[in-house]
Amino acid sequence: MTPQQPAAQWWRSAVVYQVYVRSFADGNGDGIGDLAGLRSKLDYLADLGVDGIWLNPCYPSPQADHGYDVADYTGIEPDYGDLAAFDALVADARARGIKVLMDLVPNHCSDQHPWFQAALAAAPGSPERSRFVFRDGRGADGELPPNNWQSMFGGPAWTRTTDADGRPGQWYLHFFDAAQPDFNWRDPEVPAMFEKVLRFWFDRGVDGFRIDVAHGLYKHPELPDWSGGHFNEHGFDQPEVHDVYRSWRAIADSYGPERDITLVGEVWVPTVTALAAYLRADELPQAFFFDLLLQNWDAGNFRASIDRAFAEIGATGATITWTLSNHDVHRAVSRYAVTRLAEVPEGIDPQVARSRPRGETDVARGVRRARAAALLLLALPGAQFLYQGEEIGLPEVLDLPDDARQDPTWRRSGRVDPGRDGCRVPLPWTSEPGSFGFSPADATAKPWLPQPDWFADYAVADQLGDPSSTHTLYREALRARKALFDPGDDAIVWLDLPDRADVLAFRRGDVACVVVFGAEPFAPPAEWGAIELASREPEAGRLPGETAAWLRRP
Ligand code: NOJ
Ligand code: CA
Repeated sequence: MTPQQPAAQWWRSAVVYQVYVRSFADGNGDGIGDLAGLRSKLDYLADLGVDGIWLNPCYPSPQADHGYDVADYTGIEPDYGDLAAFDALVADARARGIKVLMDLVPNHCSDQHPWFQAALAAAPGSPERSRFVFRDGRGADGELPPNNWQSMFGGPAWTRTTDADGRPGQWYLHFFDAAQPDFNWRDPEVPAMFEKVLRFWFDRGVDGFRIDVAHGLYKHPELPDWSGGHFNEHGFDQPEVHDVYRSWRAIADSYGPERDITLVGEVWVPTVTALAAYLRADELPQAFFFDLLLQNWDAGNFRASIDRAFAEIGATGATITWTLSNHDVHRAVSRYAVTRLAEVPEGIDPQVARSRPRGETDVARGVRRARAAALLLLALPGAQFLYQGEEIGLPEVLDLPDDARQDPTWRRSGRVDPGRDGCRVPLPWTSEPGSFGFSPADATAKPWLPQPDWFADYAVADQLGDPSSTHTLYREALRARKALFDPGDDAIVWLDLPDRADVLAFRRGDVACVVVFGAEPFAPPAEWGAIELASREPEAGRLPGETAAWLRRP
């Protein structure tokens, strides 16, 4: 293994693999993924060919939202390890040329965070309460929430506290679970604390952060009701948030080009134009382009989305950060497998309905389409985020037993929205019964979410070296991507096919990427060159339906 030289702005064209630590690999057999387990798989990740890993939050946390409820921003969750285990992981990753990104959660913390405990113990109007958003209720006795804002997990975004004398007290704001109180970013202690947290981890060697709910943080100072406009509009995307990223970018850049630190925003805003504002030259280097993830399997929709990315983000000089899966949405295989959409129950947000669609599925079709989508994505200029399990074509577990579900969305939505547990089921490393290699053979506990029997069919060990496996496709695509594309070549040219509205094709440098969305085979014109890589075996020079290929002209 040779440590790689730092390349300028490595993140602009990097492939980053998202590790949901709790579900990746369990080193000590307690049924919960941990840092030792992850460390033992670094050779696997290096061999796959990724440039970096992003770890979902691994700070001490009561796990009300699996780590997105942080009780201590500068420690490590004891179930996952400790700071020494974290340092060892970073060192081993670095030795393999793999960058490490952490997950920063600045919009809210855990209700067990010492600041929130101090706020509960202090009086209304105190400096302790000022770090959060406490208000008196409406109604004669303050029995109604201060405004109509809703939790993203269902129900009101406010919970009433109880005073020391046992009487009902003020309410506090939480855009997610009641165990996740929102910070008041207008109190200078809050930004000051997060600047220290950034430096703490940068000083320890991390290469960047993914920023949770990056469009949150600031709320409209008057906390007005939302109406007519978009959902909770006064709670997100406030102008002041951009100053936060200017200051964080300056901190990241102060570590110099050798460190080349990145910040990747999770920014869910209504338009790509609004997203691009976060990517101005002195703000975030990166933000996920979720627009493509929300498209159904349709050539026109995909093309329009890709065009939006180039027009709004690429045109500003920012890199585009592509992704099709993460720990909040249904796995791509299962999204593209839907053959007939079920009716969306009332109360489900339209975006949730698109990112976690339910209905009848054809899994083999979903796998074909997800493999094709992977080649499409990896041919595009920009950065790429893969979610653990995508490289083995793993489907969503749609039928977890109700009593196994842990996502607070399930409870808070009154069991209407099943939530996100189905993409968080511990990975199958082998086809061995027990835990499919997730935990050591002598484990004392079962995996924290139950794995279905069919996970055996997707086992990593059985896919390694199998020329037809999804793992092999990813491994080859990651190598070919480095060999075939010039990362500096950040433009694509669409190749129009007037007779085939279901086929997308574009050229990047010497390579043509073609994706057949429909079922009809497609014969690429000879001038596009020879097929270098295909998501399904071509038949007599023709690509079968639901297939993508890279062709290179001589
Ligand atoms: C977005 C994260 O990705 C999600 O998992 C979490 O529940 C919310 N933010 C709240 O932190
Ligand atoms: Ca463990």
